[in-house]
Amino acid sequence: MKPRSALAESLPRSGIREVMDLARQMDDVIVLVVGEPSFNTPAHIIDAAAKAAHAGTTKYTPNSGLPGIKTAVAERYSKKFGRPVTPAEVLVTAGAVNALAAIVAAIAEEGDEILIPDPGWPNYVSMIGLARTVAVRFPLRPERGYLPDIAEIEAQITPRTKALVINNPSNPTGAVFPEETVRELVALAAKHDLWLISDEIYEDLVFEGEHFPAARFDAERVITISGVSKSYAMTGWRIGWAITNPELVALCGKIQEALVSCPSSVSQAAAEAAVRGPQDAVEEMRVAYQRRRDLVRELLEPVGLLPTIPAGAFYAMVDLRGAGIASRDLSRLLLEEEHVAVAPGSTFGDVAEGMVRISLATADDDLAEGCRRIIRFAERRGALPVATAAAARV
Ligand SMILES: Cc1ncc(COP(=O)(O)O)c(C=O)c1O
Repeated sequence: MKPRSALAESLPRSGIREVMDLARQMDDVIVLVVGEPSFNTPAHIIDAAAKAAHAGTTKYTPNSGLPGIKTAVAERYSKKFGRPVTPAEVLVTAGAVNALAAIVAAIAEEGDEILIPDPGWPNYVSMIGLARTVAVRFPLRPERGYLPDIAEIEAQITPRTKALVINNPSNPTGAVFPEETVRELVALAAKHDLWLISDEIYEDLVFEGEHFPAARFDAERVITISGVSKSYAMTGWRIGWAITNPELVALCGKIQEALVSCPSSVSQAAAEAAVRGPQDAVEEMRVAYQRRRDLVRELLEPVGLLPTIPAGAFYAMVDLRGAGIASRDLSRLLLEEEHVAVAPGSTFGDVAEGMVRISLATADDDLAEGCRRIIRFAERRGALPVATAAAARV
């Protein structure tokens, strides 16, 4: 047999999957590893999908999506961006992941460099690798509340840099960028003539402050990525979108022809109902995540394990660097010794080595018990800051 693709073989395996595979073989595991909403899709959205399916919305659709969802998304973002967005500027995709992958394929040549956050969502690395482009990480440091340092990003820009990816609110850190930071990032992209790919999939999940869409500050170079997965608890429906100029949307349509043809027709009908319909469920879920964020804060902040309080998304980075144990081993030991499944920080990049990510998309009681187990582990392993260790006996 001829060999398989070396590129495919070289793609990193997700540290999250490894933990999940181990956790499945054990009992009494508190799972704080999953990055998806713990709620069901609101009933009116499911009803709309069923109605659409019965009415025959079961066929292929245009590559860039059905007019209904494109129009609904365009109307929503016209309000958010403070300028008219047309349906021709909307690419509807099989989840935000497909939007990002299609955009990368549409803008970058082999060998081009794309700047991505560290820590950041691991899929950026694999989709950039698949496009034979090079992922270059810029640091988001805990000492800065995981906010970007513009000078540090600029230092990594080379003549091959094609795009800058930002993720606001952030997975895994929960940081929400202030307006000034977003403006500075947009200005940096403009100064070096880069595309700014702004992944705003957690845009509706903000607990503190406000979410500032980057496209509000530059209609030309910002490509906004979002979708229904997180806001509406619709991860399995697979609908996301990119908002960019009509030429790039059309080019991505050609790429979609090779990847997925089009997103699912029924799911597009469901997503349209989500975007156009009542938004109460979005707010209810946001409030629940905020309550859980507060719960985690109450437990982990006093013992020094939560140096940065998440202001959005549904994750928290737990700082176990005091233990001097690598993240992958931390995850394995937490599972073996405390039966709690967490994502290793190193799966998001080098900066989060020695940390673990917990997900707030977990029932309150489980989340509280999971935190207690992590504190017990941290104390046993010498990861609690000295001054707080005594207070942490649980
Ligand atoms: C930062 C980030 N971007 C994009 C996605 C993908 O979302 P979708 O389900 O729409 O593909 C995720 C999912 O975890 C994410 O965390």
